[in-house]
Amino acid sequence: MAVDPQEFRGVMGHFATGVTVITTHDGGGTLYGLTANAVSSVSLTPPLLLCCVDKSSESYPSFGASKTFTVNILSKDQEVLSRKFAKSGGDKFAGIGYRMGKTGAPILNDVLAHLECEIRYEFDAGDHTIYVGEPIDMAMDQETDPLLYFRGGYRNLRA
Ligand SMILES: Cc1cc2nc3c(=O)[nH]c(=O)nc-3n(C[C@H](O)[C@H](O)[C@H](O)COP(=O)(O)O)c2cc1C
Repeated sequence: MAVDPQEFRGVMGHFATGVTVITTHDGGGTLYGLTANAVSSVSLTPPLLLCCVDKSSESYPSFGASKTFTVNILSKDQEVLSRKFAKSGGDKFAGIGYRMGKTGAPILNDVLAHLECEIRYEFDAGDHTIYVGEPIDMAMDQETDPLLYFRGGYRNLRA
């Protein structure tokens, strides 16, 4: 018998993660972004990483349109940004600092690190699509601590 999806969410919530905002664009100049923790390194040679995107999110079509995404790894001071990008609707980029990256997706200011990726593979997986991207540019931007997510709440390394 299949397990209950809410119980599954609760059990998986015991796996502590960092928090990212994944940005992308629709190929026509409109920017999109969503908070995501379903992100993982996949391969070293070549370097590949994955992110899992809900098919019902407003950002979803833009991944297919631009074939790019940028992973912005949030610092401990960016919980407000995480909450902003975890809601659908409105112009999420209004009033926040960012610069345009090589792929056309924005790189957010003051992130811990970022990776600009071109999508190399995609896999259908239930209500999400797994996008596997190859970084074409990346940087470690800050030395500070990460924002963490555990059991449905934001944490930091010392709390
Ligand atoms: C900590 C956290 C992690 C999340 N991880 C993911 C994720 O990995 N993939 C995903 O599709 N949504 C994830 N979400 C939910 C999206 O951020 C949320 O559905 C958002 O509203 C999507 O924005 P959009 O509809 O504008 O694209 C996460 C939310 C939070 C708070």
